[in-house]
Amino acid sequence: MPRIITEEKLSEDLQDLGIRPSTLSEYVGQSEVKENLGIFIEAAKLRDEPLDHVLLYGPPGLGKTTLAYIIANELGSNIRTTSGPAIEKAGDLAAILSTLEPGDVLFIDEIHRIPRFIEEMLYSAMEDFSIDIVVGSDSSSRSIKIDLPPFTLVGATTRAGDLTGPLRDRFGIIAKLNYYTTEELTSIVKRTSRVLDCEINEKAAVELAKRSRGTPRIANRLFKRVRDFALVKGSGFIDEDITKVSLDKLKVDSEGLDETDYNLLKAIIEKFNGGPVGIEAIASSIGEEQTTIEDVYEPYLLQNGFLKRTNRGRIVTDKAYKHLKINKQESMF
Ligand SMILES: Nc1ncnc2c1ncn2[C@@H]1O[C@H](COP(=O)(O)OP(=O)(O)OP(=O)(O)O)[C@@H](O)[C@H]1O
Ligand SMILES: [Mg+2]
Repeated sequence: MPRIITEEKLSEDLQDLGIRPSTLSEYVGQSEVKENLGIFIEAAKLRDEPLDHVLLYGPPGLGKTTLAYIIANELGSNIRTTSGPAIEKAGDLAAILSTLEPGDVLFIDEIHRIPRFIEEMLYSAMEDFSIDIVVGSDSSSRSIKIDLPPFTLVGATTRAGDLTGPLRDRFGIIAKLNYYTTEELTSIVKRTSRVLDCEINEKAAVELAKRSRGTPRIANRLFKRVRDFALVKGSGFIDEDITKVSLDKLKVDSEGLDETDYNLLKAIIEKFNGGPVGIEAIASSIGEEQTTIEDVYEPYLLQNGFLKRTNRGRIVTDKAYKHLKINKQESMF
């Protein structure tokens, strides 16, 4: 079974179209990003020019893809979507770019994964709305310039640090998405409850929000699971009791930590005396990819003070010892 609180997309999330807000005003939280984008979009429309290219970055499940669709919707434009890993050859990118219509939004998810040798084509596409493509072979090959219509590139990434400087510099608007507050997640949960037509009371919504690690995707996923418990074990109505019982069954604790988090923290405590320990050693001791730990597991633990990053490695904090009910002195040898 996949980890219930994983920030990563699961197939059932693809059916979330109804839950997904489609306008800026429905999009909960991220107020600064929302306000700025609202102004830039309005200005672009008033000038009848395409919106500047937008880079959205932040941990998985915080609403980057959602925001990309909202941008297109608010601009009244069509959106074309692709992703870094899907672009393997220069021709793949050229094919997408050459089908763009004036004012279109091109959304490139995981943009940090575009191969470096293709990036250059993106530079001229973004800057001059033109690309050079090579036709013919060997001796007879020549490069021809293709003009593109003005368009807006929206790039999304969980790893802004992996973008090259030249690519990052070509985005006029760079927006970082942050973890959501409990209040914001509560209102997302209530909205989902309205959309799915399944009632939840205030206390239950807050409880769910608290256990969602600041992430709307997790809040929505937990909502659906709790809804199942409420339907089968209760009256269908989601109250605090059924919420607690089901989240405990799903092994999501009061701080939103699950077994993977426990394994990670316990491994550092038991095998490395609480740290400092390098990420490679942690990865091999719990059998996970280093990048998965860095992108998916660790950000929330760092943000919430369960883990600290130092230049000598990761350290488990006193807060984590307390939360795991492990005595720090006793666990040392
Ligand atoms: N601000 C928000 N308000 C309401 N719902 C939201 C918001 N942000 C995200 N969601 C919900 O959370 C889900 C996940 O969001 P989304 O797919 O946009 O995340 P993402 O940042 O693109 O993740 P990834 O990095 O994995 O691609 C969406 O289906 C949407 O319903
Ligand atoms: Mg996405």
